[in-house]
Order: sequence, then C-alpha cells, then structure tokens
Amino acid sequence: MKVLLTGGAGYIGTHVAVELIEQGHGVVIADDLSNSSAEAVRRVEQITGASIPLVVVDLSRPGQADHVLAEHPVDAVIHLAAFKAVGESVAQPLEYYRNNIDSTLELLAAMKRHGVSRFVFSSSGTAYEEPITLPLVETAPTGLAATNPYSRSKAIIERILVDVAASDPDLQVAILRYFNPVGNHPSGLIGEDPLGIPNNLMPFVSQVAGGRRDRVSVFGDTYDTPDGTGVRDYVHVMDLATGHVAALATLAPGVEAYNLGTGRGTSVLELIAAYSAVVGRQIPYEIVPPRPGDAAATYANVDKANRELHWRATRSLEDACRDAWAWQSANPRGYES
Ligand code: WQD
Repeated sequence: MKVLLTGGAGYIGTHVAVELIEQGHGVVIADDLSNSSAEAVRRVEQITGASIPLVVVDLSRPGQADHVLAEHPVDAVIHLAAFKAVGESVAQPLEYYRNNIDSTLELLAAMKRHGVSRFVFSSSGTAYEEPITLPLVETAPTGLAATNPYSRSKAIIERILVDVAASDPDLQVAILRYFNPVGNHPSGLIGEDPLGIPNNLMPFVSQVAGGRRDRVSVFGDTYDTPDGTGVRDYVHVMDLATGHVAALATLAPGVEAYNLGTGRGTSVLELIAAYSAVVGRQIPYEIVPPRPGDAAATYANVDKANRELHWRATRSLEDACRDAWAWQSANPRGYES
C-alpha cells in the first residue's frame, strides 16, 4: 500500500516509516516540522534506502490535506501529527483542540473526496477517563473525564471517528492507544529529540547518562506501588511501529480501538536501574515531590491487539535502554548534532 504518514518526521512517525518501508509499503510524509526535522526523514532514507517525499504542511489549515492527497494518491492515511505535551495543553487548550481536531477533520474530509477509506489514528492510553481500573481494557471509557486537554483532544477525535464511520460504510478505522513509547531504531540513527528539557522519563534519563544533565528527579516515592515510584507500561517504539503495520493489514469497515503496550508495569527506579546496567554505572537520581496530575500506575491489557492484530511487543526494557543509549551517544544534541 501507499501510505500518507502525517507527523512522519517525528519520533514515532520516523519509526513507523522505517517499518512500513521494510514491510514493502510506500510512504509519503506530511509534517509541519514544528517539533521535528527534515534531517529525521533523511535518516529514515539512510536506514531504508528508500526515497521519501516530505510535504511540509500544516494540515489543520483549510484545504491543505486536500492538496496533499491530490498530489500524492494513497491507499491509507496513518495520522500521527498532533501537539502532544500534556502540560502545554493545560496552558494552551485552544491551540491543542484546534490543531489536533482540525487536522483530523481536514484529513477525513479530504480522504472522502479522494476515495481513501483506510485510516489509522494515533491515540493515547491517557485518553481513558478517570478513575482508571488496571489493567486498562479497550472497553473502558475514553472521553471528557480524561485528565487534561491533550488527552481530551484524543478522546474527542475517537468519538468523531465513530460518528463519521457510522455515516460512511466504506470507512475503515483503527484507533491505536499508545502507552509509554521508549527506545528507538537499533541503528541509533533516529530517536526521540525533545525540544528543551525533556518532560518524559526515558529521554531525561538518557540525557543524564550522557552528562547533559546532572541527575534524574524521581517524582515521588510514596505511591501505592511496589517501590513507591510511578509505574508505567513502557513499549519499545519499534514494537509500536509494527503495531501500526499490523493495524493497517487488519482494517475492516467500522472502528476498532487497540491498546499498544506490553501489559507490564515498570517503576521509575526499575527503569533507571535497567538504563544503569546498560551504561555500566549508576545513573544519579534524587527523589523529589510528585508531579501534579501523575497517576500512581498505568498499564495496558493487550489481549485485543494480540488476538485481532496478531501483534505483541517483543522487545524488552533492556533493548529500549540499549537502543536509547546508542541514539544518545551518537546524537548528544539530537538531530542538531
Ligand atoms: C513516566 C513516569 C513520572 C519524568 C505519558 C506519555 C506522554 C504523554 C502523556 C501521550 C511517571 C516519572 C517522569 C521525570 C520522573 N503523552 N518521571 N521524572 O506521565 O506516563 O506520560 O502520557 O499520550 O508522552 O509518556 O510519562 O515519561 O512523563 O513519566 O520521575 O523527570 O516517570 O512521574 O511516573 P507519563 P512520563
């Protein structure tokens, strides 16, 4: 299939691009490069040997998605392009709702006009409503009681997809709810390149390991978890990428949602220990107060993806730490290096 990958220059998108190409698909990337770089796409070309058209475009602007599909006929759209920082979404809800929702509406309308009926949507394990019950199963509600505007934008789009599919018997939609993506391609050529101080744990640990920051701040050690630190379901981004290709292959009319995680919880201290083992020295950390809004623990039930997509995460946390270290060592300042 020929696939339009929106947000394809980003952290997850570059990995999905590699996997699509290695499984024989053609890829066109559309990205506004607001939190990514053309260099990342060049690296994907280096890994795969393929030549990848990159359209630099803000898909939330009226008519832009239409132009892209007119110029690049495709069989499917994988829509990853979005604003994704939880904290920023609390400060700038209008920008988050506008960008994330408008780009999706524009794409769906353009797909209808161009006869494209396959759509894979990047959603989030944070779109589940509070209070959550563990492990999170796809039948749990996603919606307005998600914890922040970013997550609500994903939940709202999920609802829009259900409504649009109900009106259009041809539309085939897979919603993928990611848990905590970590790691990168084992080549170390592509990886996560956060702007400024990383919000997320793994890139922060990488920068401490690389000497760019002094120590990891562990946000709280008195949660009701085995070692008191927060527990998350860290899924290797290469596994996440194979999940997208599996979802594409299994699309059918209507909408199905799948958790993409490992089904296992890992604490902050366990992750720091795994990374320390990879680099062969203790990564320094200190316990600081909890971060407001953080859940004690989240992890997925992944039975549905196992059963229906024939997909499971096969890479370990150690693999993710080793790959993240390869990326960090070779690119201490991200793509800028
Ligand atoms: C993981 C654990 C922190 C940083 C997820 C996604 C994120 C976003 C929202 C996706 C928690 C602890 C973290 C640090 C720490 N979008 N931590 N020190 O919060 O589960 O967010 O959902 O849809 O991209 O990853 O991930 O990596 O921020 O935190 O102790 O410097 O690490 O408290 O327990 P989180 P995270």
